[in-house]
This record gives sequence, structure tokens and C-alpha cells, in this order.
Amino acid sequence: MNVRSFITWAGEKGALIEIERAVDPHLELARVMCALDGQAVLFHALTGFSGWRAVAGVCARREHFAAALGCAVPDVIHRMADALAHPSLPPVLDYGPCQEVTEERVDLTRLPIPRYHPDDGGRYVTAGVAVIKDPDFGRNISFHRLMVLDETRFAARLVEGRGTHTAWGKVTGDLPVAIAIDCPIQVLLAAAMSPPKDVDELSIAHALAPTPLMRCQTVDLEVPAEAELIFEGRITHTLTEEGPFPDLTGTMDIVRRQPVVIIDRITHRRDPIFHALLPGGMEHKNLMGMPREPTIFAAVNEVCRCTGVHVTPGGTSWLHAVVQIEKQHREDGRRAIWAAFRGHSSLKHVVVVDTDVDLYDPADVEWAIATRFQADRDLVVLTDQPGSSLDPSATQTPGQKTRTTKMGLDATAPLGKARQGYEKVRYGSVDLGQYGIKR
Ligand SMILES: Cc1cc2nc3c(=O)[nH]c(=O)nc-3n(C[C@H](O)[C@H](O)[C@H](O)COP(=O)(O)O)c2cc1C
Repeated sequence: MNVRSFITWAGEKGALIEIERAVDPHLELARVMCALDGQAVLFHALTGFSGWRAVAGVCARREHFAAALGCAVPDVIHRMADALAHPSLPPVLDYGPCQEVTEERVDLTRLPIPRYHPDDGGRYVTAGVAVIKDPDFGRNISFHRLMVLDETRFAARLVEGRGTHTAWGKVTGDLPVAIAIDCPIQVLLAAAMSPPKDVDELSIAHALAPTPLMRCQTVDLEVPAEAELIFEGRITHTLTEEGPFPDLTGTMDIVRRQPVVIIDRITHRRDPIFHALLPGGMEHKNLMGMPREPTIFAAVNEVCRCTGVHVTPGGTSWLHAVVQIEKQHREDGRRAIWAAFRGHSSLKHVVVVDTDVDLYDPADVEWAIATRFQADRDLVVLTDQPGSSLDPSATQTPGQKTRTTKMGLDATAPLGKARQGYEKVRYGSVDLGQYGIKR
């Protein structure tokens, strides 16, 4: 589902907030986005950038992914697992809307790239999906935040060891790159996944939903044909300061020496829409957390019957998960805890619940902890473990892997007769309409 179809879908569902008044991409846009976090918002006018609109919250709800993939919310995890297992090579078209307009000259300062926070290092592209080719593994796509340096250059954050960083480290010259903004939802989801290095994420995207590609004009790379805006250029080996910038955790990330990206060509759709993604907002959280759910699911399923996984937004959609199991053996809860940590190495806290607990409802999960969990019996604590560099409370030593303490709570009820007394009392359902109550 491309961004324009998403806007139409959200509008028809009454799930789109439209702002007609001009909003300034310099700080004001981020404040409005923050106040409306979790909702789809279309900004019809941007101060100082006539002809441009902006969209936010494209991935802010699980329902948006479900609509894009044409399935129910609980099935998104299975569709992701299926696409990971069966990628499908997308077709390359001769014509693509992303090249409707070719800018005569590259000038990044003429684009409505927002400044999100007064302490930021500069104006930032946050929803850019970078396409590169690794000399050994082939095509790779992933998100990289980009800080505007001047008319033609960005500083790109390349996390060490990930696909783009690895490919960049292999070449002595510049690494050709294409950056697509306003990608279809299935591309955004695939870009946030970490399949084995030789698996093409655009083929995962195409397995999720049709994703035609378009050849770039100046680099030997392909981009989603239905993206709104494309930067073509190269990642150089010149380093410059990047940051500070808010991270997924909602805390400020530090300044680092990062590669300079030079942009040689800009193409876009007519009447383009700019995708602004609030750092630390719901969209960022969903895109980080949801791709970890199938990997946790698969790991837990190896040791017991897993029925669902939710990487929760309260845990920054990275550090906390709720795992739902159909318990068949006394030790299944503990086994699930160990397996969940294997399924997502940055996971810090996990709660395991039974199938009668709604893993998307924090109050229901807390209820399970309150009524089914005893710390001296059901708590697993693992000290001095490899952890997430995003966790400010973990032990961070420069040049070394972050260390942390992990905790798993087995909040499942006992099996068999011992389960009596653990079941939730259910009242029968009624049709409130019959009582004159409209909802
Ligand atoms: C919204 C968003 C922003 C991200 N920003 C960055 C970034 O600036 N740099 C980076 O290296 N990874 C970033 N990531 C993570 C990568 O996109 C993600 O880890 C990807 O799976 C890496 O896959 P790879 O190892 O195949 O390259 C971001 C992810 C999301 C969802």
C-alpha cells in the first residue's frame, strides 16, 4: 500500500487528521506530530515550502500494517514470517511515479526536511530507506537517519555491523546509494527487518504486497516505483559529526563521527508528499518492534506452543515483550523466557502469559502478573548479559558490547486441577443498543 492509497484508506475509515493551516517544518511540525502521536496526519501546507504536503503516522498503528497487507492485526506477524521464509523478486518497471519530476539541480535546503527538536544537530530525514548493493551479498535496504549538512550533503548514521555499514566497509571508493522517502508500508516494514545478509529485503516487501521497482537515473540501483521522493548519490569515506538526535528510547543520542553522503540527483512525484517520522514516536516504535515479533515467535515455538508475541511500546518497542503460550508442560513458561531472549538479543524484560490474557492490553498483562506470578518461584534473572546499546541504564563501555541484566516473568497459571481459582470470571455479553446506550 503506497502512501497515497494509505491516505485514501485512512480518510475513508475516518482515521485521518487533516490540517489545512500551514505548519512550519522547523520545530512546529514535530510538536504537532507529538501531540497527535499514534494517529495518521496529513499536513496540507508547509510554511516556506509551497507545493509540498507532509504525512505522519503512516505506521503508527498495527491496523495500518494489517490494511496494507490485507489481513487481520494478529496475522501480521505470520505474514512477516511467511515473507521472510519465501521472498519474491519484484518486477522492474520502465515507468515509475517516483521519477515524474527530476530536479534541475540538487538543493536539499529547498525540501521541507524538518528540524524536530531545538537540541538536534540539524534538519533530519527520518523515514529514508537506503538501498545499496553489497559486493558479496547483493541488494540491502535499511533505514538511516540523515542530517542535512548543506545543499548537496547529508551525514548518515550507519549503525556498526548492520548491512549498509558492512558494505561501506568493504569498498575503498564511494558506495552508491539511493534513498527513498514515502515508501509503501510493506517496504518500510521490510527495511526494518534483519534477515540473513544475502536476503534481499525488497523481495521480502514484494512477498508482503506488490512492490514494483524503478531503475535509478545515475546509480545502478532500483527503488520502490511508488515512493514520493528519491535521492541518488554515494556514501563517501569522509567522516563528519552527526547528532545529537532523539533515539527510539525518547532520550538524546550522542554526537558521532559518521560518513558524509553526497546527493547527485533528486527525483519526485508531482505534488509530492513528504513522510515525516517522529523519532521515538509510535511509528518509529512499531517499525522497530514489530519485525522482532516473528523471530521471537519462531524461537519460542521451538520449545513450546507460542500463540502470540507483542513487543510493547512502553518498553520502547525494543526492550520489552509479552509472549503468549498454550502451556502444556510445567516448565513451558521458563522455557519460553529463555527462548524469547534468543529470538531477540536486545530483549531485556519478558512476561509470559496464557492464551486467556490479551497480550495487547497492558492492564490484562499486569493482571496476570498480579494473580499468577510469585517472584521467588517464577522469576528468571540473568546477570551480565549482552544487551542493547539503546538502554541508558545498561553498562556501556566504548568499543565493547553493552552489558545488561535480563529478567523474565513466568505469569502463566499452573496446569490441571491446580489451575482452578486462576481463571477470570466471565460475565455474559449484552447488546448495549437495547438499553439506549450508543457506543
Ligand atoms: C525508523 C527507523 C530508523 C532507523 N534509523 C537507523 C539509523 O539511523 N541507522 C541505522 O544503522 N539503522 C537504523 N535503523 C535500523 C535499521 O533500519 C534496521 O536495523 C535494519 O533492520 C538493518 O538491517 P540490515 O542489518 O539488513 O542492514 C532504523 C530503523 C527504523 C525503523
